[in-house]
This record gives sequence, structure tokens and C-alpha cells, in this order.
Amino acid sequence: MTETATATVGPRDLAADDHRYLWHPFTQAEEWNSHDPLIVERAEGFHLVDTDGRRYLDGVSSIWCNVHGHGHPRITAAMKEQLDRVSHSTMLGLSHVPAIELARRLVEITPEALTRVFYSDSGSTAVEVALRTAFQYWRQRGQQQRNRFVTLAEAYHGDTMGSVSLGFSEPFHRGYGAITFEVFKFNPPWMCEPINEGSGEQAVVAGIETPALEAAGAASLAQLEKLLAEKGESIAAVVIEPLVQGAAGIWPQPPSFVRGVRELCDRYGTLMVCDEVATGFGRTGSMFAVEQAGVCPDIMCLAKGLTAGYLPLAVTLATEQVFDAFRGRYSDYKALFHGHTYGGNPLGCATALANLDVFDEENTVETGAERGRLMGELLAEHIAPLAHTAALRRVGTMAAFEILKDPDSGLRFATDERRAYRAVLEARKRGVIIRPLGDTMVLMPPPALPEQLMHELVTATAESVAAATAG
Ligand SMILES: Cc1ncc(COP(=O)(O)O)c(C=O)c1O
Repeated sequence: MTETATATVGPRDLAADDHRYLWHPFTQAEEWNSHDPLIVERAEGFHLVDTDGRRYLDGVSSIWCNVHGHGHPRITAAMKEQLDRVSHSTMLGLSHVPAIELARRLVEITPEALTRVFYSDSGSTAVEVALRTAFQYWRQRGQQQRNRFVTLAEAYHGDTMGSVSLGFSEPFHRGYGAITFEVFKFNPPWMCEPINEGSGEQAVVAGIETPALEAAGAASLAQLEKLLAEKGESIAAVVIEPLVQGAAGIWPQPPSFVRGVRELCDRYGTLMVCDEVATGFGRTGSMFAVEQAGVCPDIMCLAKGLTAGYLPLAVTLATEQVFDAFRGRYSDYKALFHGHTYGGNPLGCATALANLDVFDEENTVETGAERGRLMGELLAEHIAPLAHTAALRRVGTMAAFEILKDPDSGLRFATDERRAYRAVLEARKRGVIIRPLGDTMVLMPPPALPEQLMHELVTATAESVAAATAG
């Protein structure tokens, strides 16, 4: 070992080294380097602990993936056990025990027609696999012309270039046109009338069942139908985040919208892909969002909560009908020529199996649904009355609201005022970690967050937003 490696590194040195060596995702370095970073050293249940020993409630589930809190004994024990067996072995040309067991469990708990599990290692790769599967499916079914995709405006499906193409968003991806492919887009319910007419804020506050949201869902479906009527023969798949669009700003859809997309895909003979990377594993009040619509997609993507937020692992599930199109003689070259080194990693699979056990043993889905209702009451009590908040919305334990200069006219604060970011720094002073999307404040605690901590999260957020928007 070198001298540097054995020396005790103090927090100040870590901060300097962070600024010197690291390049953080989705982060402007000029802003990042202007203050000391919060450096996480360990976690205790629903709290992260920094190098100075300060504890913070994890209000965004470590980027939307933690489910039962950190260091759950059942999960860490399973990880340690698997470590003693084998920590990595490939899915290319070999199989392994936890990959097989997990595939069976996932097929059992996802909608019935999904029967095949393809492993990868992130939400982006799960979507990339879905994209290739849908494209190749039609080629191998003799319909090469079905090579285009339909997605929701403002969708986010990940950061690999295929998933960026599907989820192209102007603020993030301007300038990438030359290396992405074009998709056909339609407006999601939250961008359709009557939601975007000014009555939307009220409609969304009331929850996902409101007549306004239903009507907006119907308007959105009308757009999809028009698109499919015009371009239907060229469409390989319609790709949606079902029930809630996450990175667009936690915007809900009524279940009838998800059902409508399924019906239109059937009517126009195209595939339906559901990206449940964010919505899966109890976050919307059911295990999977599609359950609330009674819908089975042809292809479904899962990641994040699959391992309860402990390790990178992802799956793309497909129906037998889709899988069958990939069968043939070797020389037909019909196999899915795709695979990632760590796809289906055994440690990840063992972790996911333990995660599913905890779901069963602790009734996490029911707890999450109940915690979501409590969250809704607390948001209405503490966030809605604030002078600079608007458009409060929530599905399960996924919630967001806008921070606006003037909620009545919809006027935003100047971007560089960084009001939501100021609220993040205020929240840290109160021992809470939150992370916004621009001036949209997102709260996404683990579904299993205890009641008392839900109170703390919402009240600390309300105080922080009030402080950050004063003056
Ligand atoms: C709906 C959705 N799809 C895909 C992704 C990409 O997942 P990952 O960051 O694991 O690549 C995300 C990430 O937030 C997501 O919300």
C-alpha cells in the first residue's frame, strides 16, 4: 500500500479531493465547487450520515431507489451470504442460481403475460434492451417498416443514446440531435386541456381521480390515436412511463389513460412498452403501476427498487409472443445480440430476492400506499398554503410541487435565483435531504418510511421552502 492510501483522510481533505478529482452527474461544477459537498459516510435506516456525523433523513430514496431504508438486516445478510458463494459470474453462455430464482419470482409477481426476463444493470440499459427488442421483433416478424417509436413529450427514459432518443428533452439534450434518432411524440395528460388551462393546479391537488385529469387523459389519447392512424404501420412500439411521468416532474396520469394506450396499441397492432424503472416496487401504492390500470404491456422495464436500492440491477420483461420471434436456427441470427458484463450480477439478484422477501414479510406495498395517503394529508396541510407553491401532485409516495414567484399568474423565479436549490440547502440545515428538478420540488421517500419520519420530511420541507422563497 502507498503512504497516501494508509493515511487517515479527514473530511476537509475529502472535500478538497472531491473538488479536485470528481465530475458529478447533472451538476454544474462551478456551482458545486463553490461550497463544501455533503459527503456521506454511512447510513442508518432511513438516514444518511455524513463525515461529520450529522444525520439526514433520505427524502429522495437515494435517487428514487431505496425502499425499506438502508442496511435492512434481511437484505444485508442475503448479500453477505451471496458474497461467500460467488459475487460475479456471467449470463453470457452460463446461468446461475439467483438469476434463475429471481426470474421465476419476477414472472410470478408481474402481469401474467410477461414470461421472460432479460437482465442488465441500470434503468437506461433496461430501456435500451426494450428498444432493441421491439425493433428486432418486427424485423423478425417480417415487418421491417415498423421501425419508429412513439413516446410522451417530456419523457425521461435514461442517459444512453437510445433512451435519450426516446426521452429527448430540450433543456438536457439540446445539441444532441445529430446522434439521436427522431421519435413521434404526443402530449401526456398533464400537458393537455383542461389540465394546462389554469384549472390544472386544483385538479392535480385533488389527486389522480379528478374529472379534469380524466378529461386530459382522453385528450392525450386522442392525440395518440391520430398519430397511430397516420403512422401506425411504421410504429414498432409506444413507450410510456405508466401512471406517473417521473423526471418530467412527477406528473400523474389517470389509470384510464394507461388502459387507453393499451387499447390503442392493440387496435393499431403495435407493441406497448412500460418503463416502470421509477414507478415499480411499491412507489405508486401498488407493486407495479400497471396493476392500477389492469394492463399488461408487451415489454416492461424495471430497475431502481428492484434491489431495494442496494445494488445496480435491471430487467426487461417480455411476453412469450415477443420472445418467440427470437427463436430459430443459429444461422438465422435471430438471437438478441445484446448483453452487459454485469447484467444479472449474482449479488444483485440475491439482493433482489431478499428485497422481494421483505416486501412479503413486511407488507411493504400496503405500507407504502398508507404512507402515501398520510403524505398527501401532510402536503395539503403544510405545503399547499405556502405563498410560493403551486400544482401539488402525488401518486403513492411520489410527490412534487412547483416553486413559483407568483402562483396566481404562474410566473417563475429567474432560473439563476436557484430557489429550489436554496430550499435544498435549507433542508440540510434541518437534517433532511431533498432534490428538485429545476424549480420543481420532488419528494420521494422510501415507501416504508415510518409515519413520524414522514411528518418530519414534509414539515422540514415546508419550512425550508418558506425560508428559500422569502424576500
Ligand atoms: C422512468 C425512468 N426510466 C429510466 C431511468 C434511467 O435509470 P438509470 O438512472 O438507472 O439508468 C430513470 C431514472 O431516473 C427513470 O426515471
